[in-house]
Amino acid sequence: MNLFQSAHLHLTGFTAEDVETITRWYQDDEYLRALSATIAFPDTPLKWQKWYESLPDLKDEYIFAIRLRADQSLIGWIALDGILWNHGAAWLSIAVGEAHQRGQGYGYEACELILRYAFHELNLHRVQLTVFANNHRAIRLYERLGFVREGVYREYLHRDGQRFDMYLYGILRSEWQPR
Ligand SMILES: CC(C)(COP(=O)(O)OP(=O)(O)OC[C@H]1O[C@@H](n2cnc3c(N)ncnc32)[C@H](O)[C@@H]1OP(=O)(O)O)[C@@H](O)C(=O)NCCC(=O)NCCS
Repeated sequence: MNLFQSAHLHLTGFTAEDVETITRWYQDDEYLRALSATIAFPDTPLKWQKWYESLPDLKDEYIFAIRLRADQSLIGWIALDGILWNHGAAWLSIAVGEAHQRGQGYGYEACELILRYAFHELNLHRVQLTVFANNHRAIRLYERLGFVREGVYREYLHRDGQRFDMYLYGILRSEWQPR
């Protein structure tokens, strides 16, 4: 068993070359809107360069590059942050930044890796996340992994003339069943 590898993926750190790729993802309106309720606005390379330089100073935040084992290309990122060590709880976030790589099972595979890391390396008790109700693919992914819908932030999002709920999902170590 390798903590950072699955059938198709390799979780690694980031390199300076990744800044250009990440900046490109943050020009994509669908991606920006799926990840955040803040106003969608394209990011600059400078923002991501500064983020890259701040990585060594991160505390209690475990962010991985998701790479394809086949060619080590960067396709996304996955993170555990906001960790409360005294309670054993953390927030999970994930994005497959390369649009053409979505829907191929990589999100699922990366989540399996990070949940194993959360429960077997960080020894956490609980992993939680929020997702917008119009993000059907992400909801399907989390439910298939065993996350339980624990709460609803009703009519949280206002997009394209419609309001959408935001859901809170959580999974406990005792509920997690690796494939
Ligand atoms: C959400 C995301 C991480 C999922 O990763 P992925 O690699 O695309 O997803 P996977 O291929 O592993 O699996 C997605 C599941 O949703 C299903 N799915 C795909 N498109 C779907 C759609 N439009 N509606 C409903 N389900 C869909 C897939 O069939 C699969 O379910 P299955 O395994 O039962 O067949 C990825 O699409 C992404 O990064 N999106 C943009 C950013 C984002 O939304 N991040 C999450 C914010 S909470």
